[in-house]
Amino acid sequence: MCGIFGYVGDRPCREFILTALKALEYRGYDSAGIATISSKGKISFVKKKGKVANLDDLLSSLPAENTVGLGHTRWATHGVVSDRNAHPHVSQKFAIIHNGIIDNYLELKESLSSSGFSFETETDTEVILKLLEKNYSKELGIEKALLKTVSSLMGSFALGVMVLDCPEVLYILREKSPLIIGQGQGENLFASDLVALAPYTKNFFFLEDGQFARIKKDSIEIKNFDGSVCHPKVVNLSDYELSTNSKGSYEHFMLKEIYEQERIVSSHIEMFYDLAFEKQRELGVGLKDIDLSKYRQLVMVGCGSAYYAACVGQYTLEKHFRIPVSVFLSSEFHQRKMHVGSDTLVLAVSQSGETADTLAACEYAKSTGATIIAVCNTPYSSLTRLADFTMYIQAGTEIGVASTKAFTATLLALMTLSYSFAKKLGTLESDELSKLIQNLKALPEKIKDVLSCAPQYKELAGKYSNCGNFLFMGRGHLFPIALEGALKLKEISYCHAEGYAGGELKHGPISLVTEELPIVAICPTGVFYKKMFSNMEEVAARQGCIIAVAPRENKEVKGIAETVLHCPDVDDPFLQALVSNITLQFFAYYVALKLGRHIDQPRNLAKSVTVE
Ligand code: F6R
Repeated sequence: MCGIFGYVGDRPCREFILTALKALEYRGYDSAGIATISSKGKISFVKKKGKVANLDDLLSSLPAENTVGLGHTRWATHGVVSDRNAHPHVSQKFAIIHNGIIDNYLELKESLSSSGFSFETETDTEVILKLLEKNYSKELGIEKALLKTVSSLMGSFALGVMVLDCPEVLYILREKSPLIIGQGQGENLFASDLVALAPYTKNFFFLEDGQFARIKKDSIEIKNFDGSVCHPKVVNLSDYELSTNSKGSYEHFMLKEIYEQERIVSSHIEMFYDLAFEKQRELGVGLKDIDLSKYRQLVMVGCGSAYYAACVGQYTLEKHFRIPVSVFLSSEFHQRKMHVGSDTLVLAVSQSGETADTLAACEYAKSTGATIIAVCNTPYSSLTRLADFTMYIQAGTEIGVASTKAFTATLLALMTLSYSFAKKLGTLESDELSKLIQNLKALPEKIKDVLSCAPQYKELAGKYSNCGNFLFMGRGHLFPIALEGALKLKEISYCHAEGYAGGELKHGPISLVTEELPIVAICPTGVFYKKMFSNMEEVAARQGCIIAVAPRENKEVKGIAETVLHCPDVDDPFLQALVSNITLQFFAYYVALKLGRHIDQPRNLAKSVTVE
């Protein structure tokens, strides 16, 4: 969470930093701030609670001529959302910005307070500032003071520091939070993320944990925390493309991204399948050569929607791998110190590739000798750099905080991995691929069908916007879709929603059934249809209110449900999950729209969860 950015060069930088912060805003939008320094060493700053745009009117109070500065967009961890707790934190000698969490900040604060330091904010970051003040002297020099300071810190940090005594330099330090340097011509920049740097340069240094850098307009020095000099190679990403950050004619990025799914599905099919010859194309270099015979277990990890996508993927991977396949929430996986080792293949699912828990899970698994395959949307992210192999989901930049197209693209990637590996392992049944191909041929039309129902979904979902609680139900592949549908609804509408496996209804949740509680039953005509229909009957018998996700032609469902959200039948449970989920994305979107929520930036959330 939190986006950080810094610039040192010859260009007046205040507008420049503001633009970068707008690109980083998806990482947090609780408050934002900018500090710049004059060539004589005067630090000026502005900071404000709320969105980055709140700085627009304050910018003119920063000196127009300053060419060195820092910017921050905050997702609050310690301390309420307020102007005061916004970054940069500035003292007489320093300005600092921070992404991460200092776990031992209370102990440090106590000890600094007893040495006479007073605190103006409730943030953990201010502790770093005060430590730096305590440690710094002209004799010791800034570098040693910074290293002494970080040696006291426990937790994660990407820090940017501006120093009154050397106004032409920016210092940055990294431990478990992403930090990238962009090398320009006569100017250099740094940021948490490539999106803020890519408009200005194609040459980057990716800082590793335990490294820091001294950045001037014409030089970049990178060292380890032990003081030894590093000579990392510059990474040239001339092929890195920034997707446009425009909503086009759509009211929200989320809606645009829902519609993009048709194209994403079609290009995935084109890239990985030869429909005419009913063949699957080879995976990219690395993945296609992986020796699968040595693995005795497959473990999938992810958080939030990525975890639910993994849960859907588990069904097909289990069938094809014929070894135990388990799915874990990343946080639980690394905290439990699971039994994994060199016979374990880990599929780490993450849109951003920066989710702290997923990275920690992979670091732990890697330390035991496990092999990591990242299933990821973001090239050059921390996860793809850590993993042994990557399957890119190719969804394009996802801007809406609630994941939509990335979820769908992840399902496709897991499906394709599963079939490719089955072929390698010889576990693919003879007509299985040809059945899949038939279904893939029909898939874009099914998605088009769902997209064309948007006006009906809008009308139907609108009827339920005043219901504060919802229960989602599905079976088999559609159980994780019930969980994902509930998550989507709660994160953007703020309505309470829970997902359950249909088989669990009678084991507790049925006591919630009343006329007031809409039960969203995902009920296409497939293997679980009869059992789901029984669940719906049980709800109807208790005067419960049913919203069925089912084909509009199904008269039986129409007869029992208060509302049918049309979703076509798909003759493959995995692809059915993918298609049904799009119907639920629309449902969540239109409930939230009716309630007037901040759909693309829901309260308290951030797109990239970079702290554990
Ligand atoms: C929900 C959502 C989150 C993310 C989760 C993991 O709509 O977006 O639950 O799925 O934070 O993020 P990544 O996939 O970037 O690891």
